[in-house]
Amino acid sequence: HRHLLGIQGLTPPDIETLLDRADAAVAISRQSQKKTSALRGRTQINLFFEASTRTQSSFELAGKRLGADVMNMSVASSSVKKGETLVDTATTLNAMRPDILVIRHSSAGAAALLSQKVDCSVVNAGDGAHEHPTQALLDALTIRRAKGRIGGLTVAICGDVLHSRVARSNILLLNAMGARVRVVAPSTLLPTDVDQMSVEVMQSMADGLKGADVVMALRLQRERMAGAFVPSIREYARYYGLDAEKLKAAKDDALVMHPGPMNRGVEISSEIADGPQSVIQEQVEMGVAVRMAVMEALLDPRRENKDADR
Ligand code: CP
Repeated sequence: HRHLLGIQGLTPPDIETLLDRADAAVAISRQSQKKTSALRGRTQINLFFEASTRTQSSFELAGKRLGADVMNMSVASSSVKKGETLVDTATTLNAMRPDILVIRHSSAGAAALLSQKVDCSVVNAGDGAHEHPTQALLDALTIRRAKGRIGGLTVAICGDVLHSRVARSNILLLNAMGARVRVVAPSTLLPTDVDQMSVEVMQSMADGLKGADVVMALRLQRERMAGAFVPSIREYARYYGLDAEKLKAAKDDALVMHPGPMNRGVEISSEIADGPQSVIQEQVEMGVAVRMAVMEALLDPRRENKDADR
């Protein structure tokens, strides 16, 4: 079975092909008749151990638009609450013969672990601070549609890079596609391996945003900061919160992005989040399309036959 566990392992042609498929899915989603039969008869299970608005609902809609039967496992009312392990929960669901399992979990590597234990395709919908590949793909699609390309653009990723699977997946994808990536954060919110991530590290928004084509603000993930240094919110907003004044350093037509959910007034001001340069709602729309493209690609019978021929 084929899986999407991370951007790591995808080649630039793989990424381009998924983005092209997603462009076609945008067109389908904009029709009044949105349902296709690409995954008719297939079963998709969404297994979210962490909260989600965008990712879970867009995976559900994506599956339904492809004609699949979609089941959302309600972890909060499941036997996980009685102490069942991740692997036991997944193997139990696997026995019901799904074709695709979409998982979000707080542990890095959870999706990869399940892919070895189940007999279906697995999609990583976010594993701890590791990867969130469909987010990076939807961000790339948003950028490509607005700017016509990804290669050669300067992208500033600002804020809590340390805890961000979104940042990790975006850095991998943007570098693979030839963008120039900067991360802008206080040193306390940078991962220890940032030197190996092929990014320019900037400590001030003025330097980091200078001439940027894309400015991506990240949510300050306070729920992952237990025991670690937690910056004062007021101080953080003052130095790293994206507002009209700081955005002036970027190009006049720079895109403003945020993966959501936003802490308005912390990492981004409402004026900017809702302003003319913001593509935050486009990102959400592209999320459905990218998830359609990914699931269709994983379960594409032509590809399955090709793989079986090998
Ligand atoms: N961007 C993102 O993953 O949002 P949700 O947590 O709402 O799914």
